[in-house]
Amino acid sequence: MRKRIVAGNWKMNKTYEEALSLVSEIDNMVKDEVTGDITVIVAPPFPFLQSVGKLTQGNDLMHLAAQNVSEHESGAYTGEVSATMLKSVGTEYVIIGHSERRMYHHEDAQTLYKKLKATIAQGLKPIFCCGEPLEERDAENHFEYVGKQLHNSLSYLSNEEFDQVVVAYEPIWAIGTGRTASSQQAQEMHAYIREQLSKMFDAEAAFNCSILYGGSCNPGNAKELFSQPDVDGGLIGGASLKSRDFADIIKSF
Ligand code: PGA
Repeated sequence: MRKRIVAGNWKMNKTYEEALSLVSEIDNMVKDEVTGDITVIVAPPFPFLQSVGKLTQGNDLMHLAAQNVSEHESGAYTGEVSATMLKSVGTEYVIIGHSERRMYHHEDAQTLYKKLKATIAQGLKPIFCCGEPLEERDAENHFEYVGKQLHNSLSYLSNEEFDQVVVAYEPIWAIGTGRTASSQQAQEMHAYIREQLSKMFDAEAAFNCSILYGGSCNPGNAKELFSQPDVDGGLIGGASLKSRDFADIIKSF
């Protein structure tokens, strides 16, 4: 069966002290309140990865993600962080292709493919993000748009490489806007994504891939979204910065 995952993308928020408090609170709530087979992921900014990871070490449900990775292995790439470095501080997952990276850092499909390869080569698991801007949805071009994003970065992976991938569908018009996709909109896109994946990889791999929804997910709408057959969890931005909200989203399964 595929994994149920709730991942918190902290983006560029929190100081060191605040990050440690937040993860301690989440860790305690997960220990006290969460039962069952759920993978909880926190993705703090780079400088806090190791310390945040250490605080969750005794908790089997909790896992660590980075928000980005270099496509290169090592060398003269000032300011970049490699998959090897991430692995060496206990990182297990890497968010790749978030719309903010595509938009503000001009990460194209080929770059994302290289990042996927670099991540998987180190035994880390990518959380590959896709999702359409509002004008593509309004033009009813959203399926084609997301299909291309998947095809242009993922289709060059082998079945074995793809087994490591988690997909996150994050419609750009829902990110940080308070406007969530309806559960029906999420389900139909997730089903479409799974169908596309089954054309690129074997059917079992596509069936087993966890597909997360992201975009203004909160404790009030998580239950409805997570109850959809092809929604296997969430990638949470704003609400992951508040321990109570994040824990309540996790408990929505
Ligand atoms: P949001 O962000 O939950 O604040 O909308 C989601 C994301 O960008 O991953």
